[in-house]
Amino acid sequence: MSPAKQQVNNPATSIPRHVAIIMDGNGRWAKQLGKLRIFGHQEGAKAVRRAVSFAINHGIEALTLYAFSSENWNRPPQEVTALMELFIRALDKEAKNLHKHNVRLKIVGDTQRFSERLRAKIQRAESLTAANTGLTLNIAANYGGRWDITQACQQIAVLAKNGSVNPDDIDEKMVCQHINLCDLAPVDLVIRTGGEHRISNFLLWQIAYAELYFTEVLWPDFDELVFEGALNAFAQRERRFGGTEPASIKEL
Ligand code: FPP
Repeated sequence: MSPAKQQVNNPATSIPRHVAIIMDGNGRWAKQLGKLRIFGHQEGAKAVRRAVSFAINHGIEALTLYAFSSENWNRPPQEVTALMELFIRALDKEAKNLHKHNVRLKIVGDTQRFSERLRAKIQRAESLTAANTGLTLNIAANYGGRWDITQACQQIAVLAKNGSVNPDDIDEKMVCQHINLCDLAPVDLVIRTGGEHRISNFLLWQIAYAELYFTEVLWPDFDELVFEGALNAFAQRERRFGGTEPASIKEL
């Protein structure tokens, strides 16, 4: 690895460059209050706003949030519809605000299955913020880690078929060029709220050397203190990236 690609991870001061969050627990949070699940998602949207502000204020380069998985279509239709409406409203309400704060918004996932209306809102919000240089905010929507790897394989297969790629030259670097988010800093930290200890088909390729942090806190209760706790835990981890020496951030 070239020295330029190495970065010392000083445990006392290290801020992850790229944080990814599995926002879980909205439904349970609402149930505890005797309310409908969608109420939990609405409160979850407020926690998204808090997390974005925190990331901006702490100089995190990229924040990737798992908003809707490829498997979430299996939820009751009224919950899916309500979530889609929530995304549309959030894009309407927040796009200008994100732009004002120099945030670049990107929706990552198979957006083909979304309504025309939602796709148009996504397109507008992404183009409005495309040139921004502050936080990159990725919202994973109709996203699955397996889908991501599969779509990369499809793209490379097309290149191999038309002769522009020799199958012998396919390596990790090339695969990476076709996987979402590989143009950003590697994911350093994955946070999952809601008490489950699993990845649930979120980023798979991208989290090869990420640190994992699980908290019982339900997503609507996620606030600056919880985020701070995750960063403190991250700062104490010794990262070796498969080697024997601690403290280098490896870019792939
Ligand atoms: C998981 O909780 C949450 C989701 C599948 C949806 C996440 C959506 C939001 C936070 C709303 C706003 C998002 C944006 C980007 C504006 P769950 O429903 O699985 O909770 P449970 O495990 O308690 O049932």
